[in-house]
Amino acid sequence: MHAADPARLLDLATDVAREAGRLAAEGQAGVDVLDTKSTPTDVVTEMDRSVEELIRKRLLNARPGDSVLGEEGGSEPGSTGVRWIVDPIDGTVNYLYGRDEWAVSIAAESMGEVVAGAVVVPVRGEVYTATLGGGAYCDGRRLRADDAVPLEMALVCTGFGYSAERRAHQAEVLRTVLPRVRDIRRCGSAAVDLCSLARGRANAYYERGLNAWDWGAAALIAREAGVRVEGLHGAPPNPELLVAAVPGLFEELHALLAPLSADTDGTVAHQGA
Ligand code: IPD
Ligand code: CA
Repeated sequence: MHAADPARLLDLATDVAREAGRLAAEGQAGVDVLDTKSTPTDVVTEMDRSVEELIRKRLLNARPGDSVLGEEGGSEPGSTGVRWIVDPIDGTVNYLYGRDEWAVSIAAESMGEVVAGAVVVPVRGEVYTATLGGGAYCDGRRLRADDAVPLEMALVCTGFGYSAERRAHQAEVLRTVLPRVRDIRRCGSAAVDLCSLARGRANAYYERGLNAWDWGAAALIAREAGVRVEGLHGAPPNPELLVAAVPGLFEELHALLAPLSADTDGTVAHQGA
């Protein structure tokens, strides 16, 4: 039994993500770096913070007592069994550079399970939504991921961490992956990547080092469109590694990545790391 109706949680997530998307889009031109996090290239803009503040305020006004986990503001405990997982701007570097691949992501977890998710990609005018067992949609149109293709025909999305050591190993993994696939895309937003799989704009995705707010809403959207979204060896998606593809292709990609230790920062010292 869930703590709240997923359809109502989705309505709230969608309304708030749309409003947050409008605010972020208005502030994109001329935005500047406010702070840095793990490395000098892991940036926070003033809009990351103010958009997350708006989202928290709207969610808690509508549902006092819920818990919230947000990329910028951390964890706020609650008492209702519902937790919101929020990324105010997923793709902050794209946002900073005036590019359009960034998203507002809001997921609702009930009793520890994500039951509703909304991802808004404001510059493209796209709104992705899903409820657990209720399907995934983009602007009201039901989403179905493309059928499996052989790995060598797959367009594969990935991303890179912010530390040099992690990137050196990610480059080693990529050296093996690239000759085995159709091509690679690095769009710069995990949420956009997962929504791309859900609508057939790419076939597969893998990335090390993501957090729950990056995949919270988009993983549900991808799953509801028929995509497997997991860690290695049947684990749920986790910061070590997230792998996503439709069944058939998923197993091929998993078999390629697991022996490469794509879920680690590598054991060998890479030049320049
Ligand atoms: C980042 C994006 C990017 C991924 C990074 C994430 P942020 O989120 O999702 O695509 O490669 O690992 O940290 O920092 O822009 O919210
Ligand atoms: Ca993010």
